[in-house]
Amino acid sequence: MEIVVSGTRPTGILHLGNYYGAVRNYVRLGDDPNVRGYFFIADYHSLTTHNNPEELKLLVKQTIATYLACGLDPEKVVIYVQSDVPEIPELYLLLNMLAYKGELEKVATFKEKIKIHNENINAGLLTYPVLMAADIIVHRAHKVPVGKDQEQHLEMTRNFAKRFNSRYDIDFFPEPIAYNFGDELVKVPGLDGSTKMSKTGGETNAIFLNEEPDAILKKIKRAKTDAGPSEPNSEKPQEIQNLFALMQIVSKPDTVSFYDQAWNTCTIRYGDMKKQLAEDMITYLTPIREKINELIRDEAYLGRIVKRGGEAARESAQKTVSEVRKIMGINYF
Ligand code: ADP
Ligand code: TRP
Repeated sequence: MEIVVSGTRPTGILHLGNYYGAVRNYVRLGDDPNVRGYFFIADYHSLTTHNNPEELKLLVKQTIATYLACGLDPEKVVIYVQSDVPEIPELYLLLNMLAYKGELEKVATFKEKIKIHNENINAGLLTYPVLMAADIIVHRAHKVPVGKDQEQHLEMTRNFAKRFNSRYDIDFFPEPIAYNFGDELVKVPGLDGSTKMSKTGGETNAIFLNEEPDAILKKIKRAKTDAGPSEPNSEKPQEIQNLFALMQIVSKPDTVSFYDQAWNTCTIRYGDMKKQLAEDMITYLTPIREKINELIRDEAYLGRIVKRGGEAARESAQKTVSEVRKIMGINYF
């Protein structure tokens, strides 16, 4: 059996980037009968930058509903909340003894986050990659479906796994890889000209999975564009490239070629392109939105799913942590 693990922070409603870069791959991997999939809500991770208890409650429920609405099947995979598995923080503590301050300070996401949250540079933020490694190796995972922004975290996870194996001279943890079905990890761009769609990138950046059609249309109409190409076959500026990248996700290949051709011949009309993109985006997201709206009303059902998932995740995590304790000598009598 191949073990697959991934998670998302409940820091906002999931957006197209989360779906296309990550959750879609959870679903595909989870459907494979040779895979044992563990998919969770990384609530502890969200505490490194967010601290509103009421909002947390809502977002955790919304994220569970979104996982299910995107097609994750609780009969096939384990869906759980990170904080329901106390073996994860235990392994995190043990892995912290193998993690160096210097290597943690060099992590790109840490450097970015301390710029944004410079009033709260907490130790949790510094050790974020250690907790993430614990999430993954607690199930002795092989593959981790994530977007491109998580590549460096996965590299660190492999380092911690290797370091543990070599420190204790045992081949215990596999070295997990960041995984996508295509050749490359994906980064879905934002609508504001930025290269990454993000939950925390502001209202004009992301298209959320529960967004109503008229809101999608409005956002896409407002997306950043330029004055248009002045020469045939010129290079596309970032914001135009972004619109094409989004179109590639939700539109038919013919539609993309049509506008590509229009760009190359300087006949492109951004108004038309945006209208088409909005229409295709709405078609692409409507089944997910409808499902989220339906599931979010059934809190008891969501609760049952993660209760059962938490128990299954603990069973797997307990096995690993009790082995780790033995390997480290933490079993005295
Ligand atoms: P965000 O960055 O929006 O806060 P998370 O950090 O919780 O989202 O990411 C959850 C998953 O979604 C991760 O696997 C991450 O790599 C993926 N992801 C997030 N944004 C994008 C994006 N714009 N394109 C592709 N994948 C993304
Ligand atoms: N760091 C990931 C993100 O920002 C979320 C995450 C936490 C995660 N633990 C994980 C992803 C374990 C994959 C596996 O998106």
